[in-house]
Amino acid sequence: MRDLSVKINSLYLLDNLNALAQIGAIDGEGVTRLALSEADKLARHHLKNWMEELGLEVRIDQVGNIFGIRPGRTNSSPVMLGSHIDTVIGAGKLDGCYGVLAGLECVRALNEKKIETNRPIVVAAYTNEEGVRYQPGMLGSSAHVGILPVNKAMEIVGIDGSVFGKELERIGFAGTMPCGEIRPIVYLELHIEQGPVLDQEQIPLGVVDGVVGISWWEVTITGSANHAGTTPIEMRHDAGLSAAKMIILVRNIAISIGGNQRATCGMVKFHPNAINVIPGKSIFTVDLRNDNEELLGKAERMLGDYSRTVAQEDGVTIELKMLEKVPPVHFDEKVISVLEKASDALGIRFRRMVSGAGHDAQLMAGVCPAAMIFVPSLDGISHSPREFTSPESLALGANALLQALLDIMKINDVD
Ligand code: HGY
Ligand code: MN
Ligand code: MN
Repeated sequence: MRDLSVKINSLYLLDNLNALAQIGAIDGEGVTRLALSEADKLARHHLKNWMEELGLEVRIDQVGNIFGIRPGRTNSSPVMLGSHIDTVIGAGKLDGCYGVLAGLECVRALNEKKIETNRPIVVAAYTNEEGVRYQPGMLGSSAHVGILPVNKAMEIVGIDGSVFGKELERIGFAGTMPCGEIRPIVYLELHIEQGPVLDQEQIPLGVVDGVVGISWWEVTITGSANHAGTTPIEMRHDAGLSAAKMIILVRNIAISIGGNQRATCGMVKFHPNAINVIPGKSIFTVDLRNDNEELLGKAERMLGDYSRTVAQEDGVTIELKMLEKVPPVHFDEKVISVLEKASDALGIRFRRMVSGAGHDAQLMAGVCPAAMIFVPSLDGISHSPREFTSPESLALGANALLQALLDIMKINDVD
């Protein structure tokens, strides 16, 4: 029989979200807690303490993924609730942290009701989900599911020249547990939508049945540095101009494919970056996304074609380096229907939807049945200090996660 009296305590959730948001907060510019930074180190220690206060056994794996384990009556495969606590630059308080801390509140609710489960429950915080400092994103879950070898991860050089493995050692989170040792039977991730759909349609909850494919590129353009005053226009090989042309063409990829195609140039650097020097080199990034794998491939080919055309026109060389490629996923229908039934039981209106943001769940879906729950983002804003979801929505989403967790326990065990 479903027990709706089991509820999360949203005061703890809101408190801990605010506490975590102080770590890496920059006045008026949101939160910047890049993976393996001093701020990430401090946040990791906070998370570990909160897990231990809830009686969880904390284990760290070789890439710094943090797992809080609540024992079950048996040692069978656990149900895992996860997300991440690293952020982008100038982030809000909720992206990732909400799913991890709501997982802890599910544990607290079970502890308070003295509910024992047959299976263990694990709350996971994956390393470097955002992929801002080190590419690829979703690095921790990629290592967990085995598509990123640990030794390769250790060698990754960050945008600041740091080396992943050395930074992991430096912050004291180079764990010994082999990646992938914890094999969940189901993975659930609660997250803010980060897009406008639920807010525009005034629907309190999203049952996420899939995530877009993601393709990240680094584009390096080499021209020739020269004098801004003496060099006639027709003699220039201006890597800055070529980058500007390419950035406009990247937008054209999204316009010409249309539908759910997204294309973004988030980072750009000129070299030598001086007011009176024609840039001899430029480097920028491209983020391509589509829930249709074919069309994502078409977008990648268009990027290649545009690079060749601009290189020809401007007498520069253009090199494309793939930084990340994660295919679109469709989540497990059985887990999706558990989430739908739990929302129904709580009387929460919901809609199915695809995520335009990447999540660790899309990696976990490769090794176990997985699905996600979204709550609305006000005006669809995220990756911004203006990211906001109401406390009521945050509590509602966490309670839906808790009910789904209990249902999955019942389905998988005779409780
Ligand atoms: O980039 C993303 O979609 C996610 O926020 N890491
Ligand atoms: Mn996220
Ligand atoms: Mn994010």
